[in-house]
Amino acid sequence: MRNTSSDNLTALTQSSFDQLPDQRLQFILKTFVAHLHDFARDTKLTHEEWRAGLHFLHQAAAITDESRSEFSLMSDVFGLSSLIDLLAMGSEKATPGSNLGPFHSRGSPVMQSPANLLRNNPGQAAIFRGKVLDLKGKPIAGATVDFWQNADNGLYWQQDPEQPQDNLRCMLHAQEDGSFEIATIRPKPYTIPMDGPVGAMFVQSKRSPWRPAHLHLIVEAPGHRTLVTEIFDEEDPYLDTDAVFGVREVLVAQYKPVVDPELLKRYKDHDHLLEVKLDLVLE
Ligand code: BEZ
Ligand code: FE
Repeated sequence: MRNTSSDNLTALTQSSFDQLPDQRLQFILKTFVAHLHDFARDTKLTHEEWRAGLHFLHQAAAITDESRSEFSLMSDVFGLSSLIDLLAMGSEKATPGSNLGPFHSRGSPVMQSPANLLRNNPGQAAIFRGKVLDLKGKPIAGATVDFWQNADNGLYWQQDPEQPQDNLRCMLHAQEDGSFEIATIRPKPYTIPMDGPVGAMFVQSKRSPWRPAHLHLIVEAPGHRTLVTEIFDEEDPYLDTDAVFGVREVLVAQYKPVVDPELLKRYKDHDHLLEVKLDLVLE
């Protein structure tokens, strides 16, 4: 094709993928080209703006390493991660997914329910409990609950040399009745990493970098779709301005004073104990 023009360039670029044997990938790449070209057309993108975009990507690559991905953060702050989570949802009855975030790693300490993560952590002691259920409300005994959260200073253990390894994270199995219980602290809000190009974009855009306080969970059981989600604190001031759009109404829970005598007895060393309850429904 010698006569490339702005009229035929999109079709021409798309057809360069015609021989790709994987039909799904071919469709994705062709659609990507169409949207990318439409973006340049709609915005009448100049050379200078295009170079600025490439510079942003170069900066993202420069700060990305094995333990930190600026590209995942870009996906989060542009709403793409949340959109994919929401599009993947089938039944309205299932617990909705929410951001994985950058602080999950495999190999959490395996504990029995009730698990106690309190150790010497400063902060407000809180019991997180609930049941893992299927869409019919039947308990899923043995479901794996992988849990992690930040400490009272807003930092995850990986970010803070003062915290012991694996602080405030664990993996456990739901009991016969689907129940699980984790003694932990009430999490704190924190900002997304601000030292890369995404942070600079937030400053320039006057966007709030805060995430409302949350507990992270991955719940897995054979024959069910794995649930990656977060539980938010109803009293958090940043619920309506989450920098990564992870909040869903049903994931917002109340921290209430514990009244259950059994719980009060089990955690008798802790004053003003709170509890937060949420059942997790897998598709
Ligand atoms: C987090 O929940 O830890 C998180 C999620 C997305 C971006 C940054 C942090
Ligand atoms: Fe988080």
